[in-house]
Amino acid sequence: MPKSSEIEISQFLETEIVGRPLLHFKKLPSTMDETRSRAENGAAEGLVIVAEEQEAGRGRFDRKWVSPPNKNLYFSILLKPKPEQLPRINMAISLGIIDGIKAETKLKPTIKWPNDLRLKRRKLCGILIEGKVSNLENSYLIVGIGINVNLKVALYPELVPIATSILEELGIEYSRPKLLSAVLNNIEKRYISLNGNNTILQEWKSLLDNLGKRVNVRIGDSSEAGIAKDVDRNGNLILEREDGSKLVVPAGEIIA
Ligand code: BTN
Repeated sequence: MPKSSEIEISQFLETEIVGRPLLHFKKLPSTMDETRSRAENGAAEGLVIVAEEQEAGRGRFDRKWVSPPNKNLYFSILLKPKPEQLPRINMAISLGIIDGIKAETKLKPTIKWPNDLRLKRRKLCGILIEGKVSNLENSYLIVGIGINVNLKVALYPELVPIATSILEELGIEYSRPKLLSAVLNNIEKRYISLNGNNTILQEWKSLLDNLGKRVNVRIGDSSEAGIAKDVDRNGNLILEREDGSKLVVPAGEIIA
């Protein structure tokens, strides 16, 4: 996306909060850090920081997020949800991204609990949520999103077994400004709908691609095996161990 893409994105943006403003950088260490420092300086909810390239893009569990220039989407959104919205924020984000990708490309990603978006069990999009949550006024969340758009996966041997991209799936390069605005439009809709009674939990659950399956879950420094039985109303995973006992997992990663 050249600099002019800020203009292009804003042509398609139909939001009131998300992407107001949207700042586009050629290169950043990570969009997370840029967003955090602006949040600490009082930036308003909705700020979006986009980078064409990240020198220190990061994922969950301090992993590196492959962020080559001009290929993918790397962005962070500053949100200031109400405490009661917190448990379902990751559901709103995942569903908003899926809505946007589906509307633009017809592809239908599934969700690997808690919030990896996948196609045919290969990762298309990662979500990293970091935050400062306190009782004081200045609590915030930074939602970092990386979507593999025009990435040739074969150029990154470490990604070959685990990742895909829109290019890999459709065989054509996709317009990143268009995709980004569709995703932001839909994230805002889902975020706003967290205020009312809605079916978000059921929708999110219906897209989880590991439910009912045998899994290994990494929890902190250890791991637990069992059947991914269900999720509770806050999105915690309910794991049924071999001996029939149940474990509620609030955060972790399915590793197999
Ligand atoms: C994961 O699946 O582990 C989460 C990956 C999140 C990557 C995005 S890219 C934009 C933002 N900036 C970062 O450094 N990370 C997130």
